[in-house]
Amino acid sequence: MNKVQGLFLVAIFSIVHTQLANGQSLRGCQNKSGNLSIEYPFGTSPGCYYAGNKSFLLTCNETTNKLFAGKKLPVINISLSGELRILKLASFTCYNRTSVTGRSSFNTTLGNFTLSDKNRFTAVGCNTYAFMTTLNGDQNYSTGCLSLCDSTPKENGLCSGEGCCQTSVPKRSKRFRIRSRRFDRETSVSDFNPCFYAFLVEEGRFNFSPSQDLQNLRNVTKFSVVLDWSIGGQTCQQVGNTSICGHNSVCLDSTTRAGYNCKCKAGYDGNPYPSEGYRGATHNGFFLSQALFY
Ligand SMILES: *[C@@H]1O[C@H](CO)[C@@H](O)[C@H](O)[C@H]1NC(C)=O
Ligand SMILES: *[C@@H]1O[C@H](CO)[C@@H](O)[C@H](O)[C@H]1NC(C)=O
Ligand SMILES: *[C@@H]1O[C@H](CO)[C@@H](O)[C@H](O)[C@H]1NC(C)=O
Ligand SMILES: *[C@@H]1O[C@H](CO)[C@@H](O)[C@H](O)[C@H]1NC(C)=O
Ligand SMILES: *[C@@H]1O[C@H](CO)[C@@H](O)[C@H](O)[C@H]1NC(C)=O
Ligand SMILES: *[C@@H]1O[C@H](CO)[C@@H](O)[C@H](O)[C@H]1NC(C)=O
Ligand SMILES: *[C@@H]1O[C@H](CO)[C@@H](O)[C@H](O)[C@H]1NC(C)=O
Ligand SMILES: *[C@@H]1O[C@H](CO)[C@@H](O)[C@H](O)[C@H]1NC(C)=O
Ligand SMILES: *[C@@H]1O[C@H](CO)[C@@H](O)[C@H](O)[C@H]1NC(C)=O
Ligand SMILES: *[C@@H]1O[C@H](CO)[C@@H](O)[C@H](O)[C@H]1NC(C)=O
Ligand SMILES: *[C@@H]1O[C@H](CO)[C@@H](O)[C@H](O)[C@H]1NC(C)=O
Repeated sequence: MNKVQGLFLVAIFSIVHTQLANGQSLRGCQNKSGNLSIEYPFGTSPGCYYAGNKSFLLTCNETTNKLFAGKKLPVINISLSGELRILKLASFTCYNRTSVTGRSSFNTTLGNFTLSDKNRFTAVGCNTYAFMTTLNGDQNYSTGCLSLCDSTPKENGLCSGEGCCQTSVPKRSKRFRIRSRRFDRETSVSDFNPCFYAFLVEEGRFNFSPSQDLQNLRNVTKFSVVLDWSIGGQTCQQVGNTSICGHNSVCLDSTTRAGYNCKCKAGYDGNPYPSEGYRGATHNGFFLSQALFY
């Protein structure tokens, strides 16, 4: 093999390498669901998600093109830096003269993902209190808030204790329960506030409008909630060179839970989590081009 052929091969390997480094997905793996892209370590079939951990297995409904973590959590955004956004239902209770309807309490399981502390537990309504209990087996916590009012508050867009209250939530929870109640059963406030609500929502994603939300929450039934994810349960130091981060990425301990995430080194972009195939290709390209120069 002469030098020209050698350089030609080097060029080909560089191209292959560059394409993979730019986040090209694995052969035969679904890389989109609706308008969401699916990238390693997430995947929808065996061989496509991070080996040995079903937490990264997603399901795309082929009829609706909606994406789910496991089978049930509706995913709306995945960030490779260690966040995932899902939609969660709000709890609600509505009164009219003759009956009460709603779902004032429910339990949620997040699989192996954990609640981010970017979420706020929110209650909307007058003479309402709501609380959330995180169930982690060894320790359970409850937090919540209370809202009293006797007429429709003035509009200011904020959830600041006037017909709406918010509180921060403990991170790292995998299971929680939400409950909401009204003080006065035969309510004096039902005329201007027939329904009350409790929900988790990403900070900054809910602007309270008293005149509309105390009626029907503008018909919104689901809110965006942020979850944290990481690889494994050990630190970068513990996994050492067995971390799945590639040559062009670095291992970072998760700041929100056990395990680690990968981040591209300065000057590189794309997916910092090389799949098995990509790691192989990088090595081959590297070693072969080295060999060709000799
Ligand atoms: C996604 O998969 C399709 C079909 O396999 C392929 O044509 C496309 O190039 C892939 N996109 C990316 C960004 O890998
Ligand atoms: C993706 O699609 C959903 C509806 O299916 C839409 O609400 C959302 O805005 C879209 N996102 C982007 C980035 O286009
Ligand atoms: C959670 O992680 C464990 C250990 O990897 C795995 O066995 C289990 O299936 C995962 N659970 C879910 C719901 O993904
Ligand atoms: C996909 O979504 C549709 C509509 O919600 C549902 O009827 C169907 O059972 C889902 N398919 C799977 C495989 O879950
Ligand atoms: C996911 O969220 C990030 C940060 O909020 C945003 O930059 C990105 O455009 C979102 N992606 C999609 C597909 O919505
Ligand atoms: C009260 O709500 C029930 C159930 O939604 C409905 O059937 C009934 O017509 C409502 N009554 C009034 C007076 O609006
Ligand atoms: C939630 O779980 C608790 C026990 O952990 C149970 O008592 C309660 O009935 C459940 N609530 C719902 C709405 O499933
Ligand atoms: C936390 O709550 C769960 C469900 O209600 C219960 O089974 C468990 O014993 C509680 N843990 C502690 C430490 O009380
Ligand atoms: C909410 O739904 C009701 C009844 O379907 C409708 O009359 C009202 O216009 C909707 N409100 C908003 C803000 O979409
Ligand atoms: C699987 O991934 C989940 C989510 O990041 C994590 O909580 C769990 O510890 C992992 N399991 C193993 C065995 O690495
Ligand atoms: C990983 O590190 C161990 C001990 O530090 C070393 O023995 C091993 O050769 C390394 N493996 C690779 C693939 O670099």
